[in-house]
Amino acid sequence: MNTQSLIDTSNKMVADGKGLLAIDESTGTCNERFEQAGIPQTEEMRRSYRDLIVSTPGISESISGMILFDETIRQRTGEGIPFAEALTQKGIIPGIKVDVGAKPLAGFPGEKVTEGLDGLRERLSNYFAMGARFAKWRAVLTIGREIPSRGCIQANADALARYAALCQETGLVPVVEPEVLMEGTHTLETCRVVTEQVLRCVFEELVAQRVLLEGLILKPNMVLPGLDCPIQESVDEVADATMHCLRRTVPAAVAGVAFLSGGQSGGLASARLNAMHLNHMARLPWAVGFSFGRAIQQPALSIWDGSPANSRAAQRALYHRAACNRAARFGEYTLQFESDAAQVLPPAIPEAVFAGVV
Ligand code: 13P
Repeated sequence: MNTQSLIDTSNKMVADGKGLLAIDESTGTCNERFEQAGIPQTEEMRRSYRDLIVSTPGISESISGMILFDETIRQRTGEGIPFAEALTQKGIIPGIKVDVGAKPLAGFPGEKVTEGLDGLRERLSNYFAMGARFAKWRAVLTIGREIPSRGCIQANADALARYAALCQETGLVPVVEPEVLMEGTHTLETCRVVTEQVLRCVFEELVAQRVLLEGLILKPNMVLPGLDCPIQESVDEVADATMHCLRRTVPAAVAGVAFLSGGQSGGLASARLNAMHLNHMARLPWAVGFSFGRAIQQPALSIWDGSPANSRAAQRALYHRAACNRAARFGEYTLQFESDAAQVLPPAIPEAVFAGVV
């Protein structure tokens, strides 16, 4: 294990106010999103969409790394360059999702455990050879009647820790993602208590598996009231609850925290990240960044709609959302960013950029 290179990569992933962009939707999830938008669900359309994202001019100003899916890391840009190589050329670190999904946990109705440990060592070294320098594994925890159970939290924490150890052995920075889902009627306080339990258990297991904390990125959920909870706290209250929860559970040695968006709107995710910086700047032991999927991609996907004529506008929307989140990391995001998108437009886009982008 090259400890220094793991630490260097981790630090680079959260440096300069930048963040990660998750474009690692599995084929099934990507197809679902295409179906909702009326876009044909073919391998070529998925490639074209990822090509549009990767080739967005200026995107590396706000994005330090992109998380790819197995299909994407084997595909090429319109110019014939493998996606991982195209990212590296732009100074963006290529990452790869390596879990194979959350499956029902035997004996625990309504709960899931994420699978993918079998053969993982070999898969990781193949991805490293393809250019990936970090990996992602997502565990999902549902809040409901008497869940998540201790058994489910433990099983997922075990898997996350074993995955993280294997990543570091291979030279990949593990992005450790225990996601407490937003779906439900639970209160913000319940989410705080559950997130605390989950993070405590995850770090116990990471330490037990001898994972280098300085060489990993934690990708947690924000502490939020359930989507169907009648009381929806303010942006500041969410930021406070999230920071209190993380300060109690995440060791200061961890290189960085990069939040998932989990289905929040782009604007709300930026506003909450901004409040964490504005209100807690003096007491953040780790870099606090983002690793958003939907909260950065959603407007771009709707605008693109599968049509080449919309590619430019879609790239502008993607650039804009990424820039909003970079501003949030400096506590400089305001509603003005949403009303006047012209403030954060990318540099002029040459027509040639669209060669090969459907
Ligand atoms: P969202 O930001 O859309 O939740 O996606 C992040 C992610 O990578 C989930 O694993």
